[in-house]
Amino acid sequence: MATNKALSFIHHFEPATLAGRPPLLLLHGTGGDENDLVTLGQMIAPGSALLSPRGKVLEGGMPRFFRRLREGVFDEEDVRRRADELAGFITEARAAYGLDAPVAVGFSNGANIAAAMMLRRPEALAGAVLLRAMVPLTELPAVSIPGTPVLLLSGIADPIVREDNARRLAAQLTNAGAVVDHRMLPSAHGLSQADVNLARQFLAGATEAAA
Ligand code: MLT
Repeated sequence: MATNKALSFIHHFEPATLAGRPPLLLLHGTGGDENDLVTLGQMIAPGSALLSPRGKVLEGGMPRFFRRLREGVFDEEDVRRRADELAGFITEARAAYGLDAPVAVGFSNGANIAAAMMLRRPEALAGAVLLRAMVPLTELPAVSIPGTPVLLLSGIADPIVREDNARRLAAQLTNAGAVVDHRMLPSAHGLSQADVNLARQFLAGATEAAA
């Protein structure tokens, strides 16, 4: 049963129903909200606690996690500020709900803020599933995330995220020490059954590693 506390982000929370599974931090895409990825979370990590905040930035009324100047061109100062703000929310929510560090599952804009958080606030996340992510920060802080597992799923026909950009993000994370599994799927920007299957396998592995 969801019991949402008053924290610094509007959010949806579902407690774990099975022990020993890492909580998921669900991060929606542009125009989504805290309810968008809950069904996906239940499918890919049955029994895990689900923490799903709503992005605070509004673009024409559509929630996002940071400001952009136009599609694919980000206000990097805002990316940094918002990544820190979201990391603060995770700290708050972990204390309020008694959670371990979560694995982020982000789609599009949500994947981009998750990547930015990994590169700025390495303590915030235990790992990440980045669905259609792109490079969120061109100027990188010196960060070390040794062994942090990341699944990066990109679409070969994605009109928003070009392959070279996704590969650059994989390289940034790998250079920081993360263990990155980067797959190019026969998809566009939208998610497919392959995303669901691969994310489920990855998270089952993360559960075994934590056991
Ligand atoms: C972003 O703005 O984060 C990316 O361009 C993807 C999107 O949300 O459309």
